[in-house]
Formats: sequence, C-alpha cells, structure tokens
Amino acid sequence: MASKLHFFLLLTVSCASLHLSMAGDPDILTDFIPPPGFFGAPSGNYFTFTGMRSLVGTPFPTTFKVLKATMIEFPALNGQSVSYSVLQFPNGTVNPPHTHPRASELLFVLMGSLQVGFVDTTNKLFTQTLQEGDIFVFPKGLVHFQFNGDAKNPALALSAFGSANPGTVKVPSAVFNSTIDDQVLALSFKTDVATIQKLKSGLSG
Ligand SMILES: *[C@@H]1O[C@H](CO)[C@@H](O)[C@H](O)[C@H]1NC(C)=O
Ligand SMILES: *[C@@H]1O[C@H](CO)[C@@H](O)[C@H](O)[C@H]1NC(C)=O
Repeated sequence: MASKLHFFLLLTVSCASLHLSMAGDPDILTDFIPPPGFFGAPSGNYFTFTGMRSLVGTPFPTTFKVLKATMIEFPALNGQSVSYSVLQFPNGTVNPPHTHPRASELLFVLMGSLQVGFVDTTNKLFTQTLQEGDIFVFPKGLVHFQFNGDAKNPALALSAFGSANPGTVKVPSAVFNSTIDDQVLALSFKTDVATIQKLKSGLSG
C-alpha cells in the first residue's frame, strides 16, 4: 500500500517537473546558439542589445508604441526562452486585445497606471487597475489588453516573456485585416457583409 502511494507520488512529481521543463521554448544542446555561419566564439557584443537606447532622452510617442527585444531583434536570445518588450502608452491609448501563442507575459508598470485584463477559455474576464510598481501576469495564449485610461498622464511598462519568440496575434487585425471571406465573418459574427466591410475598412491601410 505504502509503496503504491510512493509510486503515485513519484509519478505526480515527475509529471509536474516534465510539465515545468516543457513550459518554455525547447531546450538547446549547447550553451548558446552562435550567429548563423559563425565559427569560433562570438564576443560580448553578440549578447548585448542596444536597441532600447532609443528610449533614452527621446520624447514620449504620441501613439501607443511597442519596442521589442525578441530573437528577431536580438538573435542571441534564440534558445534562451526569454524576451522583453517596452510598452509606451500616451494618455488615453490602448494596446488592443491580442494573444502571445508561445509565452506567458509578466508586465511591470514603471510609470503611470494601466487598466489590464485577460479572458480565460470560459470567457471569464480577469481585470485590474495597476499602479506604478505593480506586476501582472498574463497567462500563455489568452486574449488580453492594456489601457491607459488616464486623460493626462502617459504610462510606461516593461513586459518579460517566457519565450525568445512569443509571437503576437492581434485580434482586430487577425479577424478583420486578414483575407477571411466577408461572408464567413458575417455568419460568424451573426451580422451582414456591410457591417463586416465597415469594420474591415477601419483597419486596412
Ligand atoms: C491627452 O492629453 C492631451 C493634452 O493634455 C489632450 O489634449 C488629449 O485630449 C488627451 N487625450 C485623451 C485621449 O485623453
Ligand atoms: C492591415 O493590413 C495592411 C496590409 O497588410 C497593413 O498595411 C496595415 O498596417 C494593417 N492594419 C492594421 C491595423 O493592422
């Protein structure tokens, strides 16, 4: 009896650790992945991303802006399961509903305040008003948004991702700015083609 219990405990623990090891990008079999076609050891420069220097001493943007450091901008992240984005929200701007298919997101409000939320697979909304210094987690793959409802002040946030390439699916664009047939959308949203075309025209261009 005791050994049976022991076996189930072991099984549970090993399943949990298997799950943990599967939570990020696939493991690589080398310390890091050097630049393609590169022989020998890359220098410290390869492991340094300077793209965020553009934030220093630059006026705040007038529209919502994301600056990314994923493996696309910073190739040394390939295989390391981490990445960053800096999110700049002028007063009254939104980061529209979107998902990251390959990563959870840990958002840290550095300046101002943000209304945030995500929707789980039962369509339940989890929302919060964050103030400077707060951290919020958006579970992997779920639809979420951030909104600076402050009419006067900007907001600045830093997001960390559990993937070197989290990917972004913007809900408005994926649905209304792809080439999904108008009739398919009209039927899906229980409306008419004219309404779909109106929504599409707001996003095209
Ligand atoms: C943002 O602030 C500016 C300057 O105070 C103001 O003119 C504008 O209406 C504000 N925008 C929103 C969406 O609140
Ligand atoms: C819609 O798609 C067009 C063409 O691909 C692109 O230029 C435009 O930026 C997209 N608009 C939005 C809001 O994503």
